[in-house]
Amino acid sequence: MKILSIDTSCDETSVAVTEGTTILSNVLWSQASMHAEFGGVMPSLAQRAHREHIDWVVTKALKTAFPKNNAANKFGLISDNIDAIAVTIGNGLSIALGVGVDKAKELSENFNKPFIAVNHTEGHLLSPLSVPKGRTETQSKIDFPVLSLVASGKHTDLIYVSEIGNYKVIAHTVDDALGEALDKTARMLGLGYPGGPVLEKLARYGNTEAYILPIPMIGQESRYEFSYSGLKTAMWKLVEKQKPLTKEKIQNLAAAFQNTAFKHVERLTSKALEDYKVKSFLFGGGVAANVELRKRLRKIANLNNIPLYIPYSKKLCTDNAGMIGVAAFFKGQRGEFEKDLDLVDREPNAKIDKPFKWQ
Ligand code: KG4
Ligand code: ZN
Repeated sequence: MKILSIDTSCDETSVAVTEGTTILSNVLWSQASMHAEFGGVMPSLAQRAHREHIDWVVTKALKTAFPKNNAANKFGLISDNIDAIAVTIGNGLSIALGVGVDKAKELSENFNKPFIAVNHTEGHLLSPLSVPKGRTETQSKIDFPVLSLVASGKHTDLIYVSEIGNYKVIAHTVDDALGEALDKTARMLGLGYPGGPVLEKLARYGNTEAYILPIPMIGQESRYEFSYSGLKTAMWKLVEKQKPLTKEKIQNLAAAFQNTAFKHVERLTSKALEDYKVKSFLFGGGVAANVELRKRLRKIANLNNIPLYIPYSKKLCTDNAGMIGVAAFFKGQRGEFEKDLDLVDREPNAKIDKPFKWQ
């Protein structure tokens, strides 16, 4: 089954074509530079940019997936090559999500293709299962149950997966998400948006021991919760004290913050791997692009004698429609198509362990 998927949940307009778990194309129109001057995503700007670019991105995804096919009109390749249309319903920015949902409904109706509604977090969770074009191995080698860590700008979730489609969130953040904390710290240091990749680069040259920051939730280790607001406040105070900032200070501050924030993830992940007897560990979401955190989690997986799976490219970690196509494939296999598109609506606060509101 070949699926055309759309994700407009935040600041990337993305469309992909997938077949099974294979990514045939995964096109992104990134708005990050547009939002950079505001230090974060501006929803109304995002909505306008999604509207302006979505048709172009759909066309590009189709042409990339089927380079030898020449269709007469821009969406013509859908009729003969695509079996279903999928879209991110939520979670995400409401008005941004709406652009993708409307486009998916239009394509599904115009070309008479089944419609698959996908949860954005499920896309991140299953992204490590995707394989590049030309490779044929599938998810079949992954043993269940699985523990998944999804760390992005909105989520720091540990999820127990008994089988694909069956999720139990065992820990989530009570305040800021890990990516959000990295973004806010980068802003404090006068660095750009998104902050995670900038901090990662600077941290490589910094000394993690130059400053002491409080590891979150120390003394409350039995609680399955992530929290970053206390660390963020401590960081803010430290940055103010260190002003004026030099390049060396910024590198050390980046290294110290990253190290402390990651220790919190390491501790709770280790606990979850001990408490829940899982056979595999998946890591997805924008923060999964971070090489240092990958290294630390790989060590923990090794200690627990289980394999760690991460997406095969960094593009599949941050928001993209390829991962939505992978999640849609499994929903399609289970026959989870939407029958009445009038009921389908964006759901900014959709939860991975709950059906969408109309379902
Ligand atoms: O998954 P994503 O693209 O969007 C959400 O669904 O939120 O994640 C974006 C987050 C941002 O907070 C960004 O700073 C972070 O992922 N991120 C990184 C890296 N690349 C992106 N964090 C740490 N290291 C990176 N290399
Ligand atoms: Zn995301």
